[in-house]
Amino acid sequence: MMPESKSDLAAALEAAGQDHLMGTWSDLSVEEQANLRTALEGLDLDQVQRLREHLRSPNEHAAKSFEPPLTFPLGRSTEQAARAEHAISIGKQLLRESKVGFVLVAGGQGSRLGFNGPKGMFGVGPVSGLSLFGWHAARLSAAQRRHGTNIAWFVMTSSSNDGATRSFFEDQDVFGLGRQNVHFFTQQMLPALDQEGRIVRTAPDALFLAPNGHGGTLAALRSEGMLDLAASLGIEQFSYFQVDNPLVRPADPLFLGLHALAEADMSSKVVAKDDPGEKVGVLGLADGRLGCIEYSDLPGDLRTEKEGDGSLRFRAGNIAVHMIRRDFVENLTKDGLLDLPWHLAQKNLKGLDAQGNPGEIPGVKFETFVFDALGAAANSVTLEVRREEEFSPVKNAEGPDSPSTCRQALTESFGNMLRAAGVDLPDRDQDGTLPLEVDPRVAENESEFCAANESAGGLKALKGEHGWLYR
Ligand code: UD1
Repeated sequence: MMPESKSDLAAALEAAGQDHLMGTWSDLSVEEQANLRTALEGLDLDQVQRLREHLRSPNEHAAKSFEPPLTFPLGRSTEQAARAEHAISIGKQLLRESKVGFVLVAGGQGSRLGFNGPKGMFGVGPVSGLSLFGWHAARLSAAQRRHGTNIAWFVMTSSSNDGATRSFFEDQDVFGLGRQNVHFFTQQMLPALDQEGRIVRTAPDALFLAPNGHGGTLAALRSEGMLDLAASLGIEQFSYFQVDNPLVRPADPLFLGLHALAEADMSSKVVAKDDPGEKVGVLGLADGRLGCIEYSDLPGDLRTEKEGDGSLRFRAGNIAVHMIRRDFVENLTKDGLLDLPWHLAQKNLKGLDAQGNPGEIPGVKFETFVFDALGAAANSVTLEVRREEEFSPVKNAEGPDSPSTCRQALTESFGNMLRAAGVDLPDRDQDGTLPLEVDPRVAENESEFCAANESAGGLKALKGEHGWLYR
């Protein structure tokens, strides 16, 4: 609790090393003073103290040993193929029984893409222009249609994009999913600190706040009442995915079933990394603990080490798709116990320095990462999936992981569906792209497309301005 009186407030801030925040108090208008007070009331000074201590001694010790994880591979033995088949039937049953809640993390700031607005509003449908949010919604409605599952979609935003996200969903009539089935919740924001541990301000009456990382999802599920809501809906598993990847399949019976069969707490999907320089973290064991090892943390010789067949030994590229048991999140977050390690991002922050002068302040943002919870999982499945079918995120404006690579990946995957069904492909555009889109409600893979094509009504292809749309 922040003290009421100005002098007590000043003393509390001074004790937390934040006296600069009151330095210009007497120069502020009454309104600005009220704004500053409100901002300060939102602060947890004990937590600020912990962040400062962490800044002074980050206690990040480099791991001594690294091992790749045990992976359920794409090339399967007879035994694994049988297990996969069994898993699919278990996964379908869990979906049919509506035991799965879908958690989309969309609280990030998406600054690399340079898109003005929540990243989920970005249009990725090659023919329809459908947004990322719309794309995910279509996959959930496909699950509803295919498995009869009741959708419970938990969408995490942050205060920097919550209003815009909610309005967008509202404008799109919640993509036909039903308002009662979409549950927004916000993650916590944390103050950014300068190199001396002082909170940076964006204005004399405003603090520089940033979302606390996707690790904040776990605490926010509890603090925002989502765990209780999920329990009341009979949800046992959370299917966790990021906003930036339209190829993600949140309702994949195989992944769900393997995770459930293994009685795993938290499981992950990975794609084979073949370029050691690709900037995805790899899943692996660091000093015996499962987690995601960032490229920069893996010693140089291990980054390029190869197996006998020429594949990278550390190739389990993290695509940030997880299955997480609800009671695992309950246990992790009980009594405020969740203790994920802090990751510090050094940034030049546009704001005021401690003396109140505007500029680029060398500072630090603090985040926790959801995959650090893997180390606490008693059991975990790491499932390898095909990159071309499940992973093509939109992260950068240009180059790798950009709108153009994503469009390419989507249209090629649709092309493969048509080919598998013996349907003629349209001519490629001048830039070599197939002008093609398959609505996920029709099919999410080749076998579903073939089945839909052979069904009584067959498939309908609509010709639009940008190509053919199968829906
Ligand atoms: C992340 C992973 C990387 C993985 C890659 C796959 C980290 C540190 N690394 O990279 O291992 O290979 O995804 O695509 O995460 N988000 C929030 N709140 C936040 C921060 C992020 O909701 O406070 C959400 C974003 O909206 C986005 C997702 O988390 O949906 C990923 O965040 P981002 O910072 O883009 O991660 P990457 O660095 O791309």
